[in-house]
Amino acid sequence: MSDKFFELKDVESGTTSRLGVSEGSIGPAVVDIGRLYRDHGVFTSDPGFVATASCESKITFIDGEKGVLLYRGYPVDQLAANSSFLEVAYLLLYGELPTASEQSEFAGLIMHHTMINETLLRFFNGFHFNAHPMAMVSGVVGSMSAFYHDSMDIKNPEHREIFAHRIIAKMPTIAAAAYKHSVGQPFVYPRNDLDYCSNLLNMFFAVPCEDYEVDPVAAEALDLLFILHADHEQNCSTSTVRLAGSSGTNPYAAIAAGVSALWGPAHGGANEAVLKMLEQIGDTSQIPKYVARAKDRDDPFRLMGFGHRVYKNFDPRAKIIREMCHKVLTQLGTTDSPMFELALRLEEIALQDEYFVEKKLYPNVDFYSGIIYRALGIPVSMFTVMFAIARAVGWVAHWQEMTADPSTRIGRPRQLYTGPTERDYIAVSERD
Ligand code: CMC
Repeated sequence: MSDKFFELKDVESGTTSRLGVSEGSIGPAVVDIGRLYRDHGVFTSDPGFVATASCESKITFIDGEKGVLLYRGYPVDQLAANSSFLEVAYLLLYGELPTASEQSEFAGLIMHHTMINETLLRFFNGFHFNAHPMAMVSGVVGSMSAFYHDSMDIKNPEHREIFAHRIIAKMPTIAAAAYKHSVGQPFVYPRNDLDYCSNLLNMFFAVPCEDYEVDPVAAEALDLLFILHADHEQNCSTSTVRLAGSSGTNPYAAIAAGVSALWGPAHGGANEAVLKMLEQIGDTSQIPKYVARAKDRDDPFRLMGFGHRVYKNFDPRAKIIREMCHKVLTQLGTTDSPMFELALRLEEIALQDEYFVEKKLYPNVDFYSGIIYRALGIPVSMFTVMFAIARAVGWVAHWQEMTADPSTRIGRPRQLYTGPTERDYIAVSERD
């Protein structure tokens, strides 16, 4: 707590109280309102948590005005240019970049845990072939709690660490199983001799009847996208994992809650929605019509992949992915990508439009990521699953941070009640 404070005066009673202020290492300070109810009998209200810090964290920092994103202090563009997804995972989990031996040991540990229990694989047969993959992934990740419950003591740091390794290792296997189920192909087992993303691509696209060689360009592109998606502070799904986890529930169940929260189109589901929107727009000549619809308050249509709760400037991840689109499409030989051209033109038109300028609506991480996933041959319905694989690292890092902190209390918000006041029960025979 710093020596700064806010003074709050209750005009009616004339009482004042001092609200302490805590300073972070960077970013806005926070006002401690914990005593407000006790001292003044009122709650605070902040629907959508626009100005509420739900916790203290050392993992990720965002400056939405300047378009800055730091993982454990390192700018995301530096990590994107120099690091790998597993190195970033280590950084997010342990707080520091690994040494060479720590890095290879960590990669070995992760790749050692890639298989899932054979019984879990059979769960997929219970889903209809056209079930949304996010429904399957959420269900199967939650079911992992049935396999690792009695052996999991969340108070034990070693158990927590094994849980972290298992989730990071098994998410690609579960995602690939969901994909194979949806296309009716046999499941392909993980290959621990491959790197993380090559293994994922192999599980997706290999079939038993012919050889499949992973394209290193595709693996590298996926690795980069995963770095950019790995964590994003207290976003909707991460906050969901923290809130669910704060009750002490099985952590696999908490991660499944995160998968479910991510699925929504306002969050991770936006990458799927962007591609569907671009397909709907179809041609650059149609852009003005759709931009007009996005601005019309009476029309529910929004430009998917545009806008962000925190970024009021360019999302730094979108900038990197846009540059990457050029490179990846060229390297994969997809030089003529009408979808990418359409996205570029849409961005250009929207960014010149007064409505988007005034509301500070810029392309976000999801605007261009789908174009790359599509070029890699990943079906649109799997886009959010890709996001979930990467974000699982952030979820686990936040769950770890929260669970290891002895001062953590169960998350339990209050409300402004606007329902009926107390009234007596009326027997059914006496109701009009
Ligand atoms: N198209 C048109 N208008 C928009 C858009 C958009 N994409 N986004 C926001 N607005 C308008 C909105 O109508 C509102 O206008 P007004 O002030 O006149 O009522 C204003 O901008 C502020 O929007 P908001 O919905 O109050 O802002 P929010 O912070 O609650 O929501 C958001 C942020 C990301 C949910 C929203 O911008 C949105 O729905 N974007 C499209 C979906 C999307 O791309 N989501 C991915 C987010 S980034 C990745 C992730 O989180 O996983």
